[in-house]
Amino acid sequence: MIQLIRGFKDILPGEVEVWQHVEKITRALFEDFGFTEIRTPILERTELFKRSIGEETDIVEKEMYTFPDRKGDLITLRPEATASVVRSYIQHKMYATDPVRKLYTIGPMFRRERPQKGRYRQFYQINAEVFGVTSPLMDAQVILLITKLFERLSIPDVKAHVNSLGCPECRPKFNKALEDVLESVKDKLCEDCTRRSGKNPMRTLDCKVPSCREALSDAPSISDFLCTECRNHFETFISSLEKMDIPFKVDKRLVRGLDYYTRTTFEIQTEMLGAQNAVAGGGRYDGLVKALGGPEQPAIGFGVGFERLIDIAGLNVEDFINKPSLYIAALGDRCVSEAFNWQCLFNLEGIRTEMDLGGKSLKSQMKRADRLDAMHVLIFGENELESGFAILRNMKTKEQTEISINNIIDNIKKLI
Ligand code: HAM
Repeated sequence: MIQLIRGFKDILPGEVEVWQHVEKITRALFEDFGFTEIRTPILERTELFKRSIGEETDIVEKEMYTFPDRKGDLITLRPEATASVVRSYIQHKMYATDPVRKLYTIGPMFRRERPQKGRYRQFYQINAEVFGVTSPLMDAQVILLITKLFERLSIPDVKAHVNSLGCPECRPKFNKALEDVLESVKDKLCEDCTRRSGKNPMRTLDCKVPSCREALSDAPSISDFLCTECRNHFETFISSLEKMDIPFKVDKRLVRGLDYYTRTTFEIQTEMLGAQNAVAGGGRYDGLVKALGGPEQPAIGFGVGFERLIDIAGLNVEDFINKPSLYIAALGDRCVSEAFNWQCLFNLEGIRTEMDLGGKSLKSQMKRADRLDAMHVLIFGENELESGFAILRNMKTKEQTEISINNIIDNIKKLI
């Protein structure tokens, strides 16, 4: 038997209903806030991710599914959505009519990480991206959007961890100070941090290796190096969160695993997930549109891990399963052929109806109706055909009613 690939998973009936519900809630909320959907390809040129996520990141260095196509061009299964959305914004000159664009996308991403609970090699993300707005009020609104999404999915205790990563103006000064510390503790750093110390020092703050954490416990914080504009931006952002009563925590050590971020960055973490505690992450990437060949346009967005969201959402699949309203237990060829016609009409009327086409006994059909949790069963055999009345059984109350088979669609619609 051919099995699926490690780190990949099927989303089966009985679980997909919850996914559909989460998608429905997300779409409704985002569209109320003026977002429109965008769907970009799953394969992109490798170059796009290298230039946006950054060459010195775990994603680009170790986790991308990259391969040459038949002509030898390097292509990659998207490890995230932001780069593709930015590419599309530039390619279709979306900024030309109105630079302010709010876009969302839901779909699979691919990262070749070590699979474990909450970490997959194909996983889904909900992404929202806003282009063309510099104001920190938008940063607060983006956090509001995530918190409200979580609230609507009955997820308790959501707290945004927020930080500012500065801008090309102030970050170099911070990097210099950090590099000096890194130099002084270089013997204690892991291989990755040693390699990144020179090129991408900020990434070392995110290292999970305990000896690196220990060595860098006194490392400087970017917050001490912010330029006036970045500081004002962050302060307005924070006070807007307070005004909107959004729970948050300033986390000066928060850096992200992707290089394009500037200023506001955030993660939504939860104790409910164990090691993989980040449900969502995002921030500003004011330089990315320009860096990828577009005009100077600020941007901010976030990605929510779909599987992790579902893991912590207080949702019961039973509430979303689409059970049949009606099961027709027809007996004998004549009745089956007549009932088949009814079944099609009921389904077209929006009354989900099932029946057996394999000539099963009444007993085994009733058993199947039970298994499907059908609300009503319509019993229709030769006797009923003769008398002109079928029997409608309410499976909960066990009450039975005789229904005239003349005009049966209307008669049943009145009763169920
Ligand atoms: P990210 O932090 O790499 O950000 O991913 C966002 C979320 O995707 C994570 O918080 C996590 O819930 C989920 N996730 C990431 N990797 C995995 C995995 N291997 N298995 C399951 N879930 C995973 C981004 O991707 C940015 N593009 C977000 C963004 C949008 N920033 C601005 N706009």
